[in-house]
Amino acid sequence: MVILITGITSGFGKAMAERLAADGHKVYGTHRHAKEFIPGVTYIKVDATVEAECEAAVKQVMDAEGRLDVFINNAGMGIGGPLEFTPVSDAESQMDVNFMGMVRFLHYVIPVMRSQKQGKIICFSSIAGKLGLPFQGFYSASKFAIEGYCDALRLELRKSHVDVVVIEPGDFATGFTANRKKVEDPAAYEAYPSYKESMAGMENDERTGLKPDYLAAKISRIVKKKNPAYNYVIANFIQRISIPVSIILPRRLWARIFASWYHL
Ligand SMILES: NC(=O)c1ccc[n+]([C@@H]2O[C@H](COP(=O)([O-])OP(=O)(O)OC[C@H]3O[C@@H](n4cnc5c(N)ncnc54)[C@H](OP(=O)(O)O)[C@@H]3O)[C@@H](O)[C@H]2O)c1
Repeated sequence: MVILITGITSGFGKAMAERLAADGHKVYGTHRHAKEFIPGVTYIKVDATVEAECEAAVKQVMDAEGRLDVFINNAGMGIGGPLEFTPVSDAESQMDVNFMGMVRFLHYVIPVMRSQKQGKIICFSSIAGKLGLPFQGFYSASKFAIEGYCDALRLELRKSHVDVVVIEPGDFATGFTANRKKVEDPAAYEAYPSYKESMAGMENDERTGLKPDYLAAKISRIVKKKNPAYNYVIANFIQRISIPVSIILPRRLWARIFASWYHL
């Protein structure tokens, strides 16, 4: 299969590119400043915030292969901090990379797959795309946006034999934690006394989380599935059950449990 993955320099993207290339697929991946290269994988330089670069990447794959079987929108980053203290420019950049980055690629991927009458679009959301996380509110918002877009896209492509799959990982040890841009304003720590401890707990859960190879092995199976599910929560047991529990419980009770989990 011909596969295009965004953001293959580290974390999930790197693990998926390695795994899918080892599975025998023809893998293309995007990067901004790659220093190491996975043998057998074709690297394309793309910043997801630049539409012309997203368009050129899809064109490069089509010119070389004449088809695109799987598109994996993985590139992303996170910002952290109380919503009130997050600069609006950081909030814009969060949406620009995570949500609009996906939109820019899909604008060129969808017509290809629709005319092929086959393909899989796999988009990375997060458990944070199902539950609004405190002090990661804009990150959550960017992932909720991905969820809403993908639900709509799946319906629109219903008759085109194109699968739209959303991946909702829990905490994983990747470059994501070190790359997070956090609000460091002393006033934010004063106004939100739980911010420091809460963020430290979340970052510790990420650093000690599952390994990206675990997720890559699941993606390897999803890519081959004839009828993949609409979404896959890939996480430890507690995180996996948190989504159905949040739906079943009365909202105030769930909020109390969630708040105590995050020391709020
Ligand atoms: N790790 C977790 O616990 C976790 C949990 C749930 C969901 N996720 C999601 O999983 C996806 C992958 O994250 P990761 O954990 O593997 O983090 P990571 O190790 O930091 O990798 C992120 C990748 O995205 C690329 N990227 C960032 N900004 C970009 C931009 N403007 N244009 C193009 N590429 C860009 C990075 O490339 P550069 O090298 O160029 O920066 C890198 O290859 C993200 O969508 C993230 O939200 C992660």
